[in-house]
Amino acid sequence: MKVVGINSSPREKGNTYLMMSRVMGHMEKKGISTEIIHIGGKDIKGCRACDTCRKLRNETCILDDGLNALIPKLKEADGLILGAPTYYADVPAEMKAFIDRAGRVSGANGRFLNRKIGAAVIAVRRGGGIHAFDTINHFFLISGIIVPGSTYWNLGVGREIGEVLDDAEGMATMDHLAENFIWLLEKTGGGLGG
Ligand SMILES: Cc1cc2nc3c(=O)[nH]c(=O)nc-3n(C[C@H](O)[C@H](O)[C@H](O)COP(=O)(O)O)c2cc1C
Repeated sequence: MKVVGINSSPREKGNTYLMMSRVMGHMEKKGISTEIIHIGGKDIKGCRACDTCRKLRNETCILDDGLNALIPKLKEADGLILGAPTYYADVPAEMKAFIDRAGRVSGANGRFLNRKIGAAVIAVRRGGGIHAFDTINHFFLISGIIVPGSTYWNLGVGREIGEVLDDAEGMATMDHLAENFIWLLEKTGGGLGG
């Protein structure tokens, strides 16, 4: 089984990464392979609404900026962790571009994200984290992705890199999220198929 993480923070080893690593570290201990891909700070363009993906149905987006390299990884993954720092009470532009384009390509190609397991992980200094969390969950739910819960919403509080590790409740939320994610993966034998 494999879980792919998409980290949209431009701070590659920042708070979002630390939280994602906490969740994915538990997965590794259970023999689930994991990979974190960094899209933060990369030039990922927004959807052009050209609908070429819906005409060609060849599992690619017409824009040639690196997003297409992620499509096979998303298809193969049993689970997805989408990580984002809170930017102006929402996800960074790279995550929104990823959502719009990967979501559209999936929709145009047999809804290949359907019944994978997914969780959002959000770093926040003070406010707006729930809205960023909701943005990713809207993507999961319209894509047919099954979302396990935790003991709180998946937020960690911190500003400077590493501060999130001092948020004991936030990190415990990551631990409980990992427990439920792994439970669901194991119960379903790696998601429920496309
Ligand atoms: C452009 C920008 C906008 C931000 N907007 C918010 C915000 O709306 N609410 C908040 O609590 N923190 C905000 N922050 C702070 C980050 O969410 C916070 O520092 C977070 O821990 C960064 O995670 P990272 O280390 O993974 O990049 C903002 C930071 C930046 C750079």
